[in-house]
Order: sequence, then C-alpha cells, then structure tokens
Amino acid sequence: MTIETNITKMLGIKHPIIAAPMGPFYTTDLTIAVSEAGGLGVISHVGLSDADPVEEMKKNMKTVVEYTDKPFGFNIRTSRMEPNAEMLCWEIPKFIMENQKIRDQCVYALTSAGSAKILPNAPPYQKLKENSEIKHFHVAPALWLAEKCVSAGVDGLVVTGGEGGGHQSYEKVSTLVVLQQVHQKFPEVPMVACGGFATGEGLAAALSLGAGAVAMGSRFIASKESEFHDTYKNVVPPAKAQDTIMATGVFGPIRLWKNEYAREHKPITSKEEKLAQEATFDVDEIAKTIRAYELAYEGNINDGAVLLGQSIGLIDSIESVSDIMERIMKDAEAAVRNAVSLVK
Ligand SMILES: Cc1cc2nc3c(=O)[nH]c(=O)nc-3n(C[C@H](O)[C@H](O)[C@H](O)COP(=O)(O)O)c2cc1C
Repeated sequence: MTIETNITKMLGIKHPIIAAPMGPFYTTDLTIAVSEAGGLGVISHVGLSDADPVEEMKKNMKTVVEYTDKPFGFNIRTSRMEPNAEMLCWEIPKFIMENQKIRDQCVYALTSAGSAKILPNAPPYQKLKENSEIKHFHVAPALWLAEKCVSAGVDGLVVTGGEGGGHQSYEKVSTLVVLQQVHQKFPEVPMVACGGFATGEGLAAALSLGAGAVAMGSRFIASKESEFHDTYKNVVPPAKAQDTIMATGVFGPIRLWKNEYAREHKPITSKEEKLAQEATFDVDEIAKTIRAYELAYEGNINDGAVLLGQSIGLIDSIESVSDIMERIMKDAEAAVRNAVSLVK
C-alpha cells in the first residue's frame, strides 16, 4: 500500500517523505538512505572548514548516484550572507547537465534562506530545466514569502513553520497556520509541509491540509545513517519538545537545542536589528559562528550550535531510515483511514 500525491507523482518517489536539507552539515549518506527507502533524499549546501561548497556538492552528487539509482535533490541557500550562492546556482546545473546519470536522478532543486529568483534566472538552470525532469521548490516560512516565490515561477513550495529546527523567519508563524494560509491562497501550487513532522499522524495531518509530502530534519538526524555525531543524535531522545529555544544565527532567528551557546545568543526580533548587528561584524565574528556549527558536528554539544526542532519531543529512538519510514507510512495510512471513516 502506498499513498500517492501530487508530489510523489511529480518527483517519481514511492512515499511522500522528503529529507529536509541540513547544511552546513553533510547529509550525503542520509540522502542515499532516504532515497533508497522510497522517499526523497536531499544533499545539503555544506560549508564546514575550508571546504569549497561547489566542489563538495559535485562530489556528494557523484557519491549519491554511485550508491542509489533512485531520485534525489539538493539545496542551495541563496542568502546574501552566502558568498557561494550565485556560483552554485550556475555551476551545479552545468555539472548536472554534463552527467547523464545525475541528470536522470536529480529531480528536485530546493533553494532557501534568500531570493527564489537566483536559480531560475541562471541560464545553466534554464537549459537544465528544458532537458530534464528537475523541479524548483523554494522554502516559504510566511504567506508573503510564498507570494514572492510564486511570482518567481517556482514549481512548488516547502512551507515551513516556526517549530522547525534551524533558521526561521522573523514571523515565526506555526506550521499549522502557514500551511492553511498558503493552501487557501495557492490551492494549485504543490506544497511540501515542513517543521514539526516526525510521525505518521503528522504526515496524515499535512496531507489533510493540502500538502503532498512532509520534509523532516530532526527525525532523520536521529537515524543510524545520518552523518551527525553520536553525541548530537543522542540529544534527540530523550529531549522534550520544550528543550529548544529561538536564538540568533547567521541568517537571523534560529531554533536551537537549549544549551550554553543558545542561551548566550539571544534572539533578535527584526531584520533591521540583524542588519545593524551585521554592520558591526568582523571576520572573527563570522568565523566564530561557523566554528559553533563545526563544534556541534564534532560532538561538542555544550559549546556548539545544536540545530533541532520541537519535533524532538516526538522522537524516542535512533533507528534505521527504512524502519523510520516504514512506521511513518503505516501510521499515516491508519490515520488517513480513520479520518475517512468519520465521514458518514
Ligand atoms: C541541523 C539542521 C540544519 C539545517 N540546515 C538547513 C539548510 O542548510 N538549508 C535549509 O533550507 N534548511 C535547513 N534547516 C531546516 C530544515 O531544512 C527543516 O526546515 C527543519 O529541520 C524542519 O524542522 P524539523 O527539524 O522539525 O523536521 C536545517 C535544520 C537543521 C535541524
């Protein structure tokens, strides 16, 4: 039994489950595991140490197609704070065009944290779009941002609410509300629900709200295959939903696990405040922030920035990706059937 949606059909996947990108960390092994299990794995925009994000993305794509024949996607953060965003939007589509196997399998280009226009405006992406099945989605954390994405001509939206892990918009609207807002305004636009999902009941709810799939970050961190340090994974179970707080990250508000680092980086409330703060930043300050991600990735969960969402309160074990997905699908099916049985 499967659940077929506009997103599963569009992307050619078995299950309506997508791995949320989790840069600057690596999610290449996770991508392979999620795609192999019938969902859609997504390669992250990495940025640790001195790694060149363009070369790393190419290398990660080669690895993915070596280990799976299934569809996958990738993420580029197009923020003004990302020095490589523009180059990635040119070089990665060119690279995909030149590699037949990657071109056949890479069906999903997800941009986030900045403009939805940079990728579709890049001529190499236009050429790739004409010669492949690739679809462009952008992350929309608020209705007005979804409107901008739709004007930019996206193929679909990842609608993300404030309970999710990692960077958030200043509005911090819940997934429940933003999904309904976007679906009411754009009922025809394919929508992936993101932020707070970790269970079959959550997937069933997202489908009822008009989404065609869920994207999960924290749930997949706590999997055997994810590249995160064991210490980071072991934060997830036993954490409670209230163990995360909003703090300030490179791009603005960020949801982190409540540790020393998160408490020290008090949340900012507006873009103006963030711009004023950035004006005082020197190279050392930026290096310190990047180091905080590296520390977490190396397993120093006290001094590092441990990005996690409120969904950690729903996760009680570290399992293989295939077990996680199998259970979610089974529970989602039961929840959908139960909901249908209520209709008389
Ligand atoms: C460790 C971590 C890193 C993240 N990095 C990115 C990123 O590079 N790009 C992006 O669009 N979203 C990023 N996010 C947000 C996720 O893609 C997703 O929106 C979030 O995990 C959803 O909430 P959940 O953790 O409850 O599933 C990150 C989230 C986490 C937890």
